[in-house]
Amino acid sequence: MKTLIILAHPDIEASRINKALKTAALESEVSMSELYEKYPDFSFDVKKEQELLVKHDKIILQFPCFWYSSPPLLKKYIDDIFEYGFAYGSSGTALKDKEFGLCVSFGAKEDELCEVSMCKRVEDIFIPFKCSFSFVGARFIKPFFIFDAQNLSDEDLKEKARAYRDYIKA
Ligand SMILES: Cc1cc2nc3c(=O)[nH]c(=O)nc-3n(C[C@H](O)[C@H](O)[C@H](O)COP(=O)(O)O)c2cc1C
Repeated sequence: MKTLIILAHPDIEASRINKALKTAALESEVSMSELYEKYPDFSFDVKKEQELLVKHDKIILQFPCFWYSSPPLLKKYIDDIFEYGFAYGSSGTALKDKEFGLCVSFGAKEDELCEVSMCKRVEDIFIPFKCSFSFVGARFIKPFFIFDAQNLSDEDLKEKARAYRDYIKA
């Protein structure tokens, strides 16, 4: 199974959590596509990105939670790359049966996120992603979350990074 990680962090150099996860992920056999590095002008090479998706079976969208959603470039990525005729429509079957997962880091604790969002489970905050994957015939796999980012000890971050590697391989 070929795995692609689509990383959307606007400042990966200043990141602690996503940078550590990226390093851990690269120890496995994965392709890493960093959207903010490749497209600082928010203008995608649509064909190239579609070809990259086609070549992989499992796609993980990795990002820090920004305002109960993703950073804006990832939203635009889905808008632009999941085109009619590619991802949906009678001939748009390129993403059918692929696995899509989310790897999200949060500043807040799990219970705080549930309280504010009024969701029983944190993954329900990302229902728009789940609906989009379902719409294109892809399968949503269990997400990987890291909570309370600022208070996570170095030891706990190392453990999370190990768990992320296992999540990628699973
Ligand atoms: C613009 C912005 C919006 C954010 N919104 C949220 C949010 O809605 N919920 C939350 O738990 N954390 C929020 N955060 C905190 C980030 O998710 C957190 O700092 C990040 O996941 C840490 O990962 P990093 O070390 O890779 O940057 C926000 C941070 C920024 C800069």
